[in-house]
Amino acid sequence: MSARATVHAFFDDKTWTVSYVVSDNATHCAAVVDPVLDFDMKSGRTSTEQADRLLAYIRHNDLTVQWILETHAHADHLSGARYIKEQAGGRIAIGEQITQVQSTFKRLYHLDRHFLPDGTQFDHLFRDGEIFTIGQMEAQAVLVPGHTPADMAYLMDDAAFVGDTLFMPDVGTARADFPGGDARQLYRSVRRLLALPERTRLFVCHDYPPGGRAPAWETTVAEQRARNIHVHDGVSEDDFVRMRTARDATLEVPTLILPSLQVNIRAGQLPPPEDDGVSYLKIPLNVLGRPAGSAAAGTPPAASP
Ligand SMILES: [Fe+2]
Repeated sequence: MSARATVHAFFDDKTWTVSYVVSDNATHCAAVVDPVLDFDMKSGRTSTEQADRLLAYIRHNDLTVQWILETHAHADHLSGARYIKEQAGGRIAIGEQITQVQSTFKRLYHLDRHFLPDGTQFDHLFRDGEIFTIGQMEAQAVLVPGHTPADMAYLMDDAAFVGDTLFMPDVGTARADFPGGDARQLYRSVRRLLALPERTRLFVCHDYPPGGRAPAWETTVAEQRARNIHVHDGVSEDDFVRMRTARDATLEVPTLILPSLQVNIRAGQLPPPEDDGVSYLKIPLNVLGRPAGSAAAGTPPAASP
């Protein structure tokens, strides 16, 4: 832990997601990064166990939530941002390129005119390089497109919250084949992060531990440059793009992509209730992914790396 900031991680073993509360030691002001709303696909029920763990920590440490930061519109879990805001306050923020993701998915879900792809569902849209504060601590939003067009990393003190742009060194990088994703951009974004000082602590948004190791989420620029299996120093842009493109062609669509995106482009708000008071999710048929039965044998089970 540095003198300036305290970082506390919360691993969700149902979606392999890591959420964070980072707080300014001087003022007890805090930012929540990538909170999860639990979702049971079988019953269609949402619940808040995971977000409540963050809230208990926030209350126990008497923290004031100023920001709820999304690194991107996630495809593997529903965002708990709205619930955290209702319970603890704070402004929900994401990269300004979210409007591009909203437009893409507005088309995919065939949403009506009431859904505006203009980012107004969020309290703040960051531009690349924008400086903001958490208490007295300065932070910076850095645009790192590639996994999606709107990915942001957040730099604070000696820490960087890198979302899905990098995973642990033995896992590598996220897929780049979602709508608007781009392997070449992802490589350039990774190199931008790996140009930070070598001791910078990198906090990832997922872990898919190989070989039975325990889940982990903190690494450094130096470790990534030495050992990341996809992008260690010496891997060229063309080599990376070849590897990433070939690997992405074998990955299935993530289990929760269709439920997740229609909540996450609304900043964690469920779709407006219909006249019976119930919110419904839409499942567009035969739009995403490959025709049933055409996936390669032995395909990995949908994970992002
Ligand atoms: Fe993601």
